[in-house]
Amino acid sequence: MKNILFAASEGVPFSKTGGLADVVGSLPKCIEKEYFDVRVCIPKYMSMKQVHKDMLQYVTHFYMDYNGTNVYVGVLEATMDGVHYYFIDNEYYFGGGKIYGDDPLFEIERYAFFSKAVLSMLPLVGFRPDIIHCHDWQTGLIPVYLNERFQGDLFFRGIKSIFTIHNLKFQGKWDPKVVQRITGLDASYFAPDKLEAYKDANLLKGGLVYADAITTVSDTYAEEIKTPFYGEGLDGLLRARSNDLRGIVNGIDYTDFDPATDRFIVQNYTVGNFRKEKKKNKRALQEALGLERDDKKMMIGVVSRLTDQKGFDLIAYVMDELCQDAVQLVVLGTGEERYENMFRHFAWKYSDKVSANIYYSEEMSHRIYASCDAFLMPSLFEPCGLSQLMSLRYGTIPIVRETGGLKDTVYPYNEFEHTGTGFSFTNYNAHEMLNTVRYAERIYYDRKIEWNRIAQRAMEQDFSWEASAKKYQEMYDWLIG
Ligand code: ADP
Ligand code: GLC
Repeated sequence: MKNILFAASEGVPFSKTGGLADVVGSLPKCIEKEYFDVRVCIPKYMSMKQVHKDMLQYVTHFYMDYNGTNVYVGVLEATMDGVHYYFIDNEYYFGGGKIYGDDPLFEIERYAFFSKAVLSMLPLVGFRPDIIHCHDWQTGLIPVYLNERFQGDLFFRGIKSIFTIHNLKFQGKWDPKVVQRITGLDASYFAPDKLEAYKDANLLKGGLVYADAITTVSDTYAEEIKTPFYGEGLDGLLRARSNDLRGIVNGIDYTDFDPATDRFIVQNYTVGNFRKEKKKNKRALQEALGLERDDKKMMIGVVSRLTDQKGFDLIAYVMDELCQDAVQLVVLGTGEERYENMFRHFAWKYSDKVSANIYYSEEMSHRIYASCDAFLMPSLFEPCGLSQLMSLRYGTIPIVRETGGLKDTVYPYNEFEHTGTGFSFTNYNAHEMLNTVRYAERIYYDRKIEWNRIAQRAMEQDFSWEASAKKYQEMYDWLIG
């Protein structure tokens, strides 16, 4: 039996702000239990739902030398769908009202604490991983601590690490002297071939330098991040480590996201009857959101963190033009105020066409995936993207920009060959996007049989974890040897 520990800042169902949580919550379930004991370690956030807090069992606690003092580390555990979870508890660091805070230095302090606590708890809970699989900058220090501090200890010697990049944009950067004090690492680690990047200490870079292998969440993004445009300043390092870097596309949980059994939606449907049944969801959503009631009106969905990554500048630029068309736009998301207000404004201006739902809701997200005809995701960059996979699963046709995982998972409609599962455009250009949306509108209104065939092909795609989980397993096997 090989032991794998996932370390991450969020995981479904306990905590989620985006796709990282979906991956951490669903991938471990799909790793073969006969060969691998996969466990997951995440923080115990105060903001977790009470039902989830009630599931947690106390394991142990200890005091850890950290940032100049002795800090309390509580360890709790729970089993969810056959996966063993550990939770790191500390009220000072994880007691806030939401998962992530706004003070970048405190974020570094919190997750450096988490990273050290993950390693420190292992001998006490009696689980020695062969591999620690780290996710995003919050866990970037784990490979660093593992290589530089804990290797002296027999328990830790030989533990391998994998670092998965879900988003290169967030790196955890601050003044090296301050980070050195917080982390307790020797000054020699804050050099340009180690943690330092452009005069800052950079936790993500630490993970990339010290991990035994690096992955990211699609093949295209794995290539893109080796270039300056997508490399966020670290493309040189990623080119240097390109032999250890590979893309493995994400899957989604095909049980949680299944139009045939989804308990959040008004009308369940399958690839066999979606032509008749799917629109009942649209009807109910139009009614619930106060949009014009019309089964035939093309409804376009957006479910997203509202950040510039997702291409909202393009949408803002052509929103007035788009709203002249026979479409309805349903948005669900939270994030940057300028985008929240932009959608609120257009919902006020075109109240029977645009619905702006500026909040977070699992249930509403499922209703949108099920109800809409198309799903708009014109991202500036997209490491993988899960929303378009959810849309495909629900026969809601994605309209995407050809970048990262969007390029790898949405095949553009070809009207001559009758192939494809969505619509896509290349350049980050608002009118290129609008033209693509309008092309989709024409197919939707004028060639309904074709549209439904695209939807059918979309629903027949397989983006469950099966194939990708195998690739992770091969990598685990190869690394452990
Ligand atoms: P990212 O991780 O960059 O945010 P992904 O497409 O990988 O993008 O994953 C986003 C996930 O978060 C999806 O599961 C999506 O449904 C969910 N999501 C985003 N915003 C909301 C929201 N306001 N309410 C509910 N779910 C949301
Ligand atoms: C990140 C990326 C998204 C990806 C998700 C899960 O949040 O922005 O593209 O799907 O991580 O890997």
